[in-house]
Amino acid sequence: MKAILVGFMGSGKTTVGTLLAQKLGIPYHDLDDMIVSSAGKSIKQIFAEDGEPTFRQLEHDALKKALKDDGILGTGGGTPIQTANFELLQATEIPVVLLDVMPETIIRRLASDTERPLAKQLGLNGLVDLKGRRDLKYEQVSDFRVATDDLTPLQVAEVINQNL
Ligand code: S3P
Repeated sequence: MKAILVGFMGSGKTTVGTLLAQKLGIPYHDLDDMIVSSAGKSIKQIFAEDGEPTFRQLEHDALKKALKDDGILGTGGGTPIQTANFELLQATEIPVVLLDVMPETIIRRLASDTERPLAKQLGLNGLVDLKGRRDLKYEQVSDFRVATDDLTPLQVAEVINQNL
């Protein structure tokens, strides 16, 4: 991989990662999509039918595999928080980029989300609390961060490109 994007749900990892990959002429890989393909069901179904621990195991397996691929990797919001993943991301030579986002932006972007199981379980206040508990880990695992709130996804992709 040329770069790994981390950040909370709604930080724009998929949108920015797709644009960055296009700009560089390399593939974009989305960890959630890899999990969905390997499980043969949606993230929502995995959480509901198999539970979050099963999802986290699939996520770890997908991450190990993805690190060997070429391109840009968009992780899930919870990926760097799991200790085994945190260690992999800290140890890798690949630049890890944090897409930073303010709680207000998260609320605006996730208010009508129906696909993310945690958004449904926790509600908007719960999501903001979860972000607060995760922020230090996102910072520790990343090589640099981009404050995304006032930038378009294309501008965020450009800033990352300049820093790679
Ligand atoms: C999760 C984030 C999701 C997805 C799953 C769990 C999390 O990815 O992996 O619903 O724990 O924050 P996105 O950040 O792409 O929404």
